[in-house]
Amino acid sequence: MVRRRRRRTKLLLLLGLVLLVSFLVNYFYTEIRPTVIFGLRSDYAKALPFQKVPVGLESLRAEECGRCHREIYEEWKTSIHAHAYTDPFFQAYWKRDNQVWVCLNCHTPLENQQPTLILGIPQDRVEKAIQIRNPRYDADFQQEGVTCAACHVRDGVIYGPFDDSVAPHPTEFDPGFRTTKVCYRCHNVVSGPFQFYNVGPCGTYPEYEGEYFMKEKGFICQSCHMSEVTRPVAEGGPIRQGRRHLWPGGHDPDMIKRAVAIHVQADSPVPQAGHPITFTLTLINAGAGHKIPTGDPDRHFTVEFIVRDQEGTVLDQQLETMGRWILWQPVIVEVYDNRLLPLASRDYEFTYEIPKDRKGLVVEARVRYHILTDGQHAMLREKYGLKGNDPYVFNIYSREFPLDSTLGVALNTQPLDPRVGCSSFREGTVNPTGHQIFG
Ligand code: HEC
Ligand code: HEC
Ligand code: HEC
Ligand code: HEC
Ligand code: HEC
Repeated sequence: MVRRRRRRTKLLLLLGLVLLVSFLVNYFYTEIRPTVIFGLRSDYAKALPFQKVPVGLESLRAEECGRCHREIYEEWKTSIHAHAYTDPFFQAYWKRDNQVWVCLNCHTPLENQQPTLILGIPQDRVEKAIQIRNPRYDADFQQEGVTCAACHVRDGVIYGPFDDSVAPHPTEFDPGFRTTKVCYRCHNVVSGPFQFYNVGPCGTYPEYEGEYFMKEKGFICQSCHMSEVTRPVAEGGPIRQGRRHLWPGGHDPDMIKRAVAIHVQADSPVPQAGHPITFTLTLINAGAGHKIPTGDPDRHFTVEFIVRDQEGTVLDQQLETMGRWILWQPVIVEVYDNRLLPLASRDYEFTYEIPKDRKGLVVEARVRYHILTDGQHAMLREKYGLKGNDPYVFNIYSREFPLDSTLGVALNTQPLDPRVGCSSFREGTVNPTGHQIFG
């Protein structure tokens, strides 16, 4: 009797334990570490509502707009917005995230572009959303990513920055086009419960608000990402002041070069064998209205010093990283964020003991921008079908300094970026290549 009761107690205990463990595992994966790594904000919790074709037009397709807005269309077509869905990096990450619907609300934002309709989101939990097939889904339109209509079309009307246009389609003036409002919806991702980010991923907006470029300079996102241009807006129309639809960003090395100013110094212009020499590379966020790097938390800069001999053999090297480091497993915690705010600078130092018996040594100082780490890139290739050879590392700065008596000359002949050494950004300053920095 006693023995049997004991066995039953044991069984019950075991059962309880199994239940507790499965509850904890479930709780962990749904509450503490949810599938979606950011919080839901009302702006992007829903797709942009279904849009019908405005009177006078044949379709909502970008190509249709391109019939009359030729140049704008050609620009947009090369932009990352046009590739927000076909982008191989997006496709690979999306596959890793089980192709969860919420990503589409920014990458293919119109309901017309989405295969399912969301009827409800119980407890605001993305993975619990109730979905049905979208009968008006247009698969070709989905390929267009952030298409013209996503920014311009609402309720059969085309909104834009002018109050006097005469067009073969209904138009309406929206002053929001000349503010950051247009960009806010998608470039401000928040963090969710149990996610310990300061700023959610892809959250450029909060890093920008109230900062120098906006307050003192009156810059908005468009000032730097949609350069001004004077031209007819539509074929045959009047010449107007408008903006290019290119949105250069992290995939464009020239844009990243505009963000940073770099200068290298050494503690002695005459290196001596048997003695240490210290190089200092100063990196300034001289041209971005937000932190650099910004947005996607994978983005980072590396600052390197590499010592080589005459044969090119590496004798010493040092690598430092600037970015934000997030511990994704087992919980999402931002470990650190050492990115640079607008106009902030940082010194990177490297000390090398010069050997007595070597000649022809050079120190290379190098700054690179990374879309992803090599590890993530390999993971996306091996497990999530990342295809193509889109570059994911860009050389932003590289210069060799000889460790001999000509070092002083080499240091003094660095093209001086006028943004170095001044704490405030001057109007009309030019970069070393002679191009206007903005405008
Ligand atoms: C048949 C030619 C044609 C087509 C097709 C066309 N547009 Fe236009 N659009 C015009 C003309 C003409 C204007 C007026 C230009 C002006 O006043 O300088 C205009 C004006 C605009 C403006 C400025 C509105 C304002 O008042 O600020 C926007 C934005 C615009 N179009 C977007 C689009 C989009 C998006 C599409 C595709 C969905 C499209 N257009 C298709 C001819 C066209
Ligand atoms: C409907 C959503 C949406 C809106 C509105 C939007 N963007 Fe974007 N933007 C995106 C997405 C999604 C990407 C990333 C595409 C990719 O890399 O796959 C992106 C990428 C970018 C990039 C390039 C980043 C890179 O990695 O190169 C820049 C710059 C940018 N947007 C600026 C703007 C500006 C400026 C505005 C306002 C005028 C704006 N965006 C409005 C969704 C949006
Ligand atoms: C990410 C949002 C976004 C997308 C996508 C977009 N535009 Fe625009 N568009 C803007 C903004 C912002 C302006 C206002 C620029 C300014 O201040 O003049 C604008 C202005 C315009 C204008 C007025 C002329 C000008 O340069 O100001 C036309 C016409 C226009 N867009 C057509 C298009 C067409 C056609 C497409 C697709 C091929 C497109 N837009 C895609 C945001 C967008
Ligand atoms: C003063 C100029 C300036 C202003 C204002 C500005 N940016 Fe940028 N932005 C840059 C430069 C330069 C870069 C390239 C450096 C980089 O990618 O870190 C950049 C990079 C980006 C990127 C690319 C990040 C990536 O994926 O690599 C995005 C997205 C972006 N900006 C969005 C915005 C938005 C949204 C706003 C407005 C809230 C804005 N920017 C305002 C200059 C500016
Ligand atoms: C609130 C809008 C929003 C949502 C939701 C969103 N993204 Fe993005 N995504 C962006 C913006 C804006 C960028 C560009 C900013 C940048 O590059 O820093 C971007 C960039 C990316 C990039 C970088 C692309 C490249 O070329 O390097 C990947 C990958 C990506 N998103 C994947 C996803 C996935 C997967 C989801 C869903 C789990 C998702 N995004 C949900 C707005 C969004």
